Parts: sequence; C-alpha cells; structure tokens
Amino acid sequence: MKQEIEKQLQYIEKVKEINKGNKLKYNILTMGCQLNENDSEKLCGMLDKMGYEAIDNLNEADLALFNTCCVRENAEDKLFGKLGELKRIKNTRNIVIAIGGCMMQEEHITEKIKQSYPYVDIIFGTHTLQNFPKDLYETLTKREKIKDIIDIDGEVYEGLPIKRDSQIKASVTIMNGCNNFCSYCIVPYVRGRERSRNPKDIIAEVKGLAKEGYKEITLLGQNVNSYLRSEKTGVRKVNIEEYGEVDSFAKLLREINKINGIERIRFVSPHPKDFTEDVIEAIRDCNKVCKLIHLPLQSGSTQVLKAMNRKYTKDQYLELVDKMKKQIPNLTLSTDIIVGFPGETEEDFEDTLDVVKRVGFEQVYMFIYSRRVGTPGDKMENQIPEDIKHKRFDRLKALVESQIQQNNEKYVGTVQEVLVEGLSKNNKNMLTGRTDSNKVVIFEGSKDLINKMIKIKIDSECMWYLKGIIEN
Ligand code: SAH
Ligand code: SF4
Ligand code: F3S
Repeated sequence: MKQEIEKQLQYIEKVKEINKGNKLKYNILTMGCQLNENDSEKLCGMLDKMGYEAIDNLNEADLALFNTCCVRENAEDKLFGKLGELKRIKNTRNIVIAIGGCMMQEEHITEKIKQSYPYVDIIFGTHTLQNFPKDLYETLTKREKIKDIIDIDGEVYEGLPIKRDSQIKASVTIMNGCNNFCSYCIVPYVRGRERSRNPKDIIAEVKGLAKEGYKEITLLGQNVNSYLRSEKTGVRKVNIEEYGEVDSFAKLLREINKINGIERIRFVSPHPKDFTEDVIEAIRDCNKVCKLIHLPLQSGSTQVLKAMNRKYTKDQYLELVDKMKKQIPNLTLSTDIIVGFPGETEEDFEDTLDVVKRVGFEQVYMFIYSRRVGTPGDKMENQIPEDIKHKRFDRLKALVESQIQQNNEKYVGTVQEVLVEGLSKNNKNMLTGRTDSNKVVIFEGSKDLINKMIKIKIDSECMWYLKGIIEN
C-alpha cells in the first residue's frame, strides 16, 4: 500500500515538473455527499502539490474536474449539462476534462460518455481515486484517453495529500462502502463493500487536525455504526488484533473524545438497525460528541421499510428514538426520508407523517424516490406516478417546515454554545456559528472570536437561523 502511494507521489512530482512556470488552473465540481466532498479534498490536495491553482471560473480552467454522485437522477442531468457546455471550450482550446466518482462506476454512464461525449479525457472510479496523478500524467504526456475504473473493492489508502475546505471543521472518512443494499439505493454498487480504516490511522489524523487548530470533526461513512464489523466477521481479511484496543464505533468515539483541542465530534450516517447500546452510551458519556444525531428513517411505514430492506419496523424506530431520548439529555434528531417508494400507499405515507409528528426532528432531508438502474427498487412494478410523489413531497415539506418553526421558538431565551465559523455571508458586520444541534446563529462580535466556542443568548429566530447576543 505504501509503495502504491509512493508511486503516486512520484507522479505528482512528474506532473509538477511538466507544469513548471505554466500557472495551470483547475475548476472542480463536487456533487453528492460529504464522503464525496472529502474525496474531493484529496483530489485538490494532489492537484495543489502538482502545481495547479483552484479557480471558480470554468472558462479559465486548464483542467475541469468533476467528482460525481449518482444517488438520484438530477445529478446526471447536471453532469451532462456541464459536459455540453465544455464542448464549446474544448473546441477553442486545450482543456483536460476529468470525471470521477460514483457515477463512473455505472457502466451505462461510461458508455454514454464514450458515445456522446468522446472529448472527455479521463474517467476514474471510486476505487481508483488515488491513481489520479498517474492518470493525469499519462493524459498530459501521451494525449490518450484514460479509463481507470475497477469493479473490485479498492484498498484503504493512507497518506494522500489533502487540501481541506475549512480551517475550523474537518471531515474524516472512517470507512468506505456499504453492505446494506437498501432496495432503492445505488451506493453499495458504486462504492463496494464495507472497508474500515485502521483506528490508529484515524486517531493519528484527528490528532494532527487538532494540532492544526481544527475544532470540529465529522466522522464519515455510509454506515458508521457498523465500523469494523466486516473486519470482525472475517469478510475482510485483516488482522484485527493489530488494530489495538479500539474494535467498535463506540470505542472509536470514546478515543477521539480524549483528543485535546477537538471541541466537537459529529458523525454521519449511522443506521438505526446497528444503533446498539454501547453507541448510545458513548454518545451520552462523551462530552464532545454533539447531541444532534442523524438517524435516517426513510419511511414511517413498516411495510415500505420491509420492501426497502431497511431491517426495522415503524415501532422499532420509535422505540429506539424513545430509548435514546431517555438516555441522552438534550438529544436532538435529524433524518432522511424518501417519498414515493414503489408500492407506497396513502396509508403508508401517513405513517411517515405520523413518525415525523411524533419524533419532532430538528432537520429533515426529504427526497423524492428516484429509480436507479440495477437496484431491486427499479424492477418493482408498482412504481408511484410522478404527480403523486410530488404531492406527497409537498405535504411532507409543509409539515416539516411548520415543525421547524415551532422548534425554533424553543431556542429563544436560551443560552447556546456556539462554534464561531466566520463572517456572515449576507452581512459582513455579523458573525456566524453553529449550535451543538447544528443550527446557524448570527450575532455581532469581533473577528477574534472566529474558531472559538462561545456562549450566545438567542433573542429571535428566522426559519433557517437564530439570532442572538454574546453572553458574558
Ligand atoms: N448511507 C446513508 C445514506 C446514503 S444516501 C444512510 O443509510 O443513511 C443519502 C440519502 O439519499 C439516503 O438516506 C436516502 O434518503 C436518499 N436516497 C438514496 N437513494 C435514493 C433514491 N434512489 N431515491 C431517492 N432518495 C434516495
Ligand atoms: Fe444506501 Fe442503505 Fe447503504 Fe445507506 S445503508 S448507503 S441508504 S444501501
Ligand atoms: Fe452520491 Fe456516491 Fe455519496 S452516489 S451520495 S456521492 S456515496
């Protein structure tokens, strides 16, 4: 593994040599989830070392890089729209076009690119991200089209350069892939099976981040609370003894909680079926672990949940929420919901509304079911007509918004711990930060407070943010 990374570091040097004195620029577009954003930070880290400068304007770029997502259909429309735009640029000058990420693991997509967008230079998948320096070198020197995609689970690579988007909050991927095969979801097909990073590497990375001054860490994975499980069940052949004391997600949380300098720990996404007692206890005991937990519901109907292959019922989900609320003081919850899964009846949908009403989520990420080629959901015959899906989505959205409004009122008059993130985008005289529950707070204060935890007394609320004053 080390050898592989060293080889890539050599390619980084080679590309840097070619680019000497050229001031090459790149534009990157990242779609999808935080895992993809973290992958993009690695791509940017490599490009930085290769002497490329990041710019926002695609029209001035020497390299156009796309890190794609395919979890829902709209991402595809976005990519193909951009590729159409790039054809015009490619006709006038020499721009390298590279596309990576989840969508490139789908054969019908790479076929379409080959047929309809033959001017794309490099396509790479989720298991070959670390080869990007080599792929770019080959393109620059040989002017050949590169297709660097493998279908087997990629290794867990350590030691790639990284250029992070923020100096306050950092994401740390703890595992790749997913073993769950929810019947609507494409992720297991494009990201492969679960592979966990060695806890020693994760802890070393977080310690390094603390030294650099980062205050907030988000641990990432498709299913974080099954961290190290496939290693323990022998699905992946590794010697878990070498991993030391940490052999579960709960223990990992406890270890990271000990790291000086880090003030907040978040994680996404856990799966309700794996929310074991030890994880609940670790959240309760670890003072730095935020008490906002993302607990994807997907549907409130037991019947739909079964068809989705989620492995829990409506009642089991509600029981888990009750148990967590009892054990974790100040717990808040956010969730993901899909409307219009095949076979969803009016009654099923009302079950979803019912769970939303009963739990009172802090935030709900709502999605209209999107058919994904190759998933069991796509083959189901009882697909829901578009207009019904949209009507249900609007009804859910109205309920969620009314709940958020109500929930916001609870904050007014309270004092909140806020991590100050910077100047407010809309009003440069104000600062912005977030509460433990990830609510945006806007307030007046000096720039010196950026990257500090302070207390804010909330005096008013708007739909998407709270306002307050510094509490002395
Ligand atoms: N591993 C994470 C989520 C990954 S995808 C988890 O299990 O929670 C993020 C969200 O996208 C999912 O939670 C789901 O709500 C939504 N999603 C996934 N596939 C979808 C599809 N085919 N149509 C609509 N939404 C989908
Ligand atoms: Fe997709 Fe389900 Fe895996 Fe999440 S747990 S990535 S929704 S298959
Ligand atoms: Fe999308 Fe891939 Fe994430 S499909 S949601 S970018 S894992």
